Amino acid sequence: MNKLKTMLSAVALCAGMTAFAHAAPETIKFSHVVAENTPKGQMALKFRDLVAERIGDKYVVEVYPNSQLFGDGKEMEALLLGDIQFIAPSLSKFSKYTKKLQVYDLPFLFKDMEAVDRFQQSEAGQALLESVKSKGLVGLGYLHNGLKQLSANDPLRVPSDADGKKFRIMSSDVLAAQFEAVDAVPLKKPFSEVFTLLQTRAIDGQENTWSNIYSKKFFEVQPYITESNHGVLDYMVTTSTEFWMTLPDADREVLQKALAESVAHGNAIANDKVMKDRKSIMESGRSEIITLSDAERQQWVEVMKPVWSQFQNEIGAEIIEAAVASNQ
Ligand code: LMR
Repeated sequence: MNKLKTMLSAVALCAGMTAFAHAAPETIKFSHVVAENTPKGQMALKFRDLVAERIGDKYVVEVYPNSQLFGDGKEMEALLLGDIQFIAPSLSKFSKYTKKLQVYDLPFLFKDMEAVDRFQQSEAGQALLESVKSKGLVGLGYLHNGLKQLSANDPLRVPSDADGKKFRIMSSDVLAAQFEAVDAVPLKKPFSEVFTLLQTRAIDGQENTWSNIYSKKFFEVQPYITESNHGVLDYMVTTSTEFWMTLPDADREVLQKALAESVAHGNAIANDKVMKDRKSIMESGRSEIITLSDAERQQWVEVMKPVWSQFQNEIGAEIIEAAVASNQ
């Protein structure tokens, strides 16, 4: 009898342990390269909080900002290997997986962020989220950062001012062509290295949004910022098919909704951040903001725009046309 009791308690203990093991929430890692006080940083934190509130008994989101876990390039590999579950790289960093997203790098394509938004929400823009599907990636939505500005050690007013200067760019052939068009020297470097490259004067300049220039303190080591608004830096919130499709349907639905709300939150604050960070840079007195005259800006447009035809076949003429149409 005693033996039976001992056996029954052992069975009960095992069952309890199994139930306990199942109860431990699964960790979801969201890795990114920017600071927390940016649209992407805030979006990731919102997602963490919504998941904790709505399905915290099953999942816990850990956010790793500032390339803490993985930097550019490596984060996509890590996602595909299952080491992390969410990333939101700049649209400029997907060319290894699809050439179509290169449309976002074409210089002077969008007249403002409203046009970018219209294109992203259009049929053509939404279809681009699917362009990485065959590579095992799931594009879950677009997230804004903003328009890019040019920063440098010397004032850049007309294209010839960039002649021979070294600019850090993201890993995009379109961006390389854009700087080559003004006879500058583009260097593909990870985001985490930009501050040091600028500080040590290993490079002369870079292009980025007000938010990144401010939060990463590039303005402290770049005496001039030309307000060129020449291109867009936005993101695609991405997961892997392997992670996403093996989730129970009901959980995926909760996570997808939380993610959509977090992206909407990031997008809602992006524009305010642009204005605030630009103002903080201006008030710091560390960097002079150069405003271009219409004639000066037109010179940049004329020299850089031929890059469009260079990439038209890779991107697809119909995608470029749809993007242009979003300006109306
Ligand atoms: C950059 O590399 O400059 C940006 O893509 C960083 C980011 O994620 O905003």
